[in-house]
Amino acid sequence: MQPLPGFRDFLPQDCAARNYIFDRWREVARRYGFVEWDGPVLEPTDLYTKKSGAEIVTQLFNFTDKGEREVAMRPELTPTLARVVAAHEREFKKPLKWFSIPQCFRYEKQQRGRLREHFQFNADIIGEDSLDADVELIALCVDLLRAFGFAANDFVVRVSDREFWIDFLRTQNVPEENWQEILQIIDRSEREPREKTAVKLGPLAEPAFKILDGKGGSEKLDRVLAALRVRGLADFVEIDLGIVRGLAYYSGVVFEAFDRGGKLRALAGGGRYDNLIAQLSDGAVSLPALGFAMGDVVLGELIGETQAAREKLGTAIATEQNLDIYIVIAKEERRADALAKIQALRDRGYRVDYSLTAAKVGKQFQTAEQLGARVAILFGDEWPQVRVKTLASREEQLIGNEEMLAYLASLPSLSSRAERSDVEGPRGSTDR
Ligand code: HAM
Repeated sequence: MQPLPGFRDFLPQDCAARNYIFDRWREVARRYGFVEWDGPVLEPTDLYTKKSGAEIVTQLFNFTDKGEREVAMRPELTPTLARVVAAHEREFKKPLKWFSIPQCFRYEKQQRGRLREHFQFNADIIGEDSLDADVELIALCVDLLRAFGFAANDFVVRVSDREFWIDFLRTQNVPEENWQEILQIIDRSEREPREKTAVKLGPLAEPAFKILDGKGGSEKLDRVLAALRVRGLADFVEIDLGIVRGLAYYSGVVFEAFDRGGKLRALAGGGRYDNLIAQLSDGAVSLPALGFAMGDVVLGELIGETQAAREKLGTAIATEQNLDIYIVIAKEERRADALAKIQALRDRGYRVDYSLTAAKVGKQFQTAEQLGARVAILFGDEWPQVRVKTLASREEQLIGNEEMLAYLASLPSLSSRAERSDVEGPRGSTDR
């Protein structure tokens, strides 16, 4: 039995990698003053058919529920955010700076970097129309990627302005009902042959290609770049009017992050969507908004291809999974004493494991190594003394059971754990 196409099983190794990615996302978002929120996985289908744009609607996982409601699994979080903000905006001081890590579902053709479910870090700023907010968000996107060990030669954030294209369509007298379609053609133009795009664009092809070839500029984007330069982040960004974004609700500065090698799909994408909240609330609430999302799938691919990022991930997985202490029970008569100690050690925050059933001493040491334990403690003939073995250096020390906790706290290989632990052992606990 396999999972459905485009769905993943997360074995412990994969979960550790996922946790590492989520931890970096959370840590950097908090550094920027964002707070976490979430919404439901299932929403009324209307929420997406109204405003997300044609492409995403064809990819919906939707069905009729037992109460005859038309529902869809969220393909993205932005419409939910707009709904939630419209309902609760009075409860919060603006601007809101919210982040979330939803699992999203899109019935896409499965290919490299595209699955039918993915996790997406979202960060959005609501209630701020200054261009400084756009800059802040692009800086956050850069810093999120830097947190994984990527440098300026690994990725680039390409920044564009949808307003620029809308002005272009206006000056070309294109009727408003055709705008979305043309923006989609421009969005896809990089991924298809010029001739094909030219046929689709008709008389707009020539002026549009001029802009795409870098012969058009935007004063707004120059300001964005200058502000990023002040932060020392200019090397990570490029102005590129070829970015338009596939989703329909964007209204201003938009951006997408890509690997420099250009081999992978977009790592992240987003922009300003000042009209969405008003549109979804039928004008009841109107707030400027902007945000972006970064997916775990493409990010994972780029980590796999970049040595510095791969090493960081490897260390993080080992740190997450490794044990601190393995208790070797050499004599079954010592099992009760060992268990009392195991309880005391766990109370202090150490990660401790042992064999649930009687096993040969050699086998127990082997398991200790396999589980990445830093220290093995042998309970055997020497009781009430125990033998503490540091597995990396093979150093051994015979210690009185009473002194064991103090001794472990002094070991450099366990010091990070002891410092991190905020768990106090219960008073008069099983520590004998
Ligand atoms: P999006 O560009 O559709 O934007 O998705 C953002 C990121 O999610 C993509 O760059 C990609 O890394 C990842 N992603 C999307 N679809 C898939 C898939 N099928 N498989 C794997 N990864 C995928 C949005 O969703 C906007 N709602 C972002 C946003 C937030 N705009 C404003 N606030």
